[in-house]
Amino acid sequence: MIFVNYKTYEEGTGQKALALAKILEDVARTSQVKIIPVVQTIDAEAIVSSVTLPIWIQHVDPVSYGAHTGWTLPEEVAKIGVAGVFLNHSEHKFNNFEALRNANQKAKSANLKTLIFAGDLEELKRICELNPTFVAYEPPELVGSTTASVIEAKSEIVSKAVEAARAAGIPLIVGAGIHSGNDVQKSLELGAVGVAVATDIVKAVDPRKELTDLVEGFK
Ligand code: G3P
Repeated sequence: MIFVNYKTYEEGTGQKALALAKILEDVARTSQVKIIPVVQTIDAEAIVSSVTLPIWIQHVDPVSYGAHTGWTLPEEVAKIGVAGVFLNHSEHKFNNFEALRNANQKAKSANLKTLIFAGDLEELKRICELNPTFVAYEPPELVGSTTASVIEAKSEIVSKAVEAARAAGIPLIVGAGIHSGNDVQKSLELGAVGVAVATDIVKAVDPRKELTDLVEGFK
């Protein structure tokens, strides 16, 4: 599976977000690889109603209905048809572990799948205790790299992350700098179930071509 994180890139916003989702849907259909657009909350409803892929968003907050100005309610996200949510991405970390635990619990109670990011092995082991749907290893220093990927630079840690995630019975995703079918293939060989990617697809001149290259890694 491939999570495509739109972040707040202009190329992944508004009408462009929708156009990109259509491309992801086409490639998913032809390749039979599961592809999940992870879009901005503001674009989620329009994309949910336009493509058949499961649509995720990039964050929710650990709140229920009430006085929480500017926060995002897991229940309402689920109501518009969003299937899952990223939590604790290195660009949107929780201030403390209890807040992360609450956000994961509230999202799961609202029937959202969750993927929690860890920047290192120690954090990954702690996160496994929260029992998210997926756990992801993404070294922050490689996020956005177009030359070095997590699997090229940190393969030993990926192997250890696979072991830790397996021991907890949670599927592992890897991300940061993923930019080739070879990166995907190596990640799967080491035991990850998929990858998270942004720059290589969202910022690409030809996202279809780049994604077609990535799905080759599943063959
Ligand atoms: O969530 C995936 C993302 O952080 C990876 O970013 O640009 O390194 O593919 P990128």
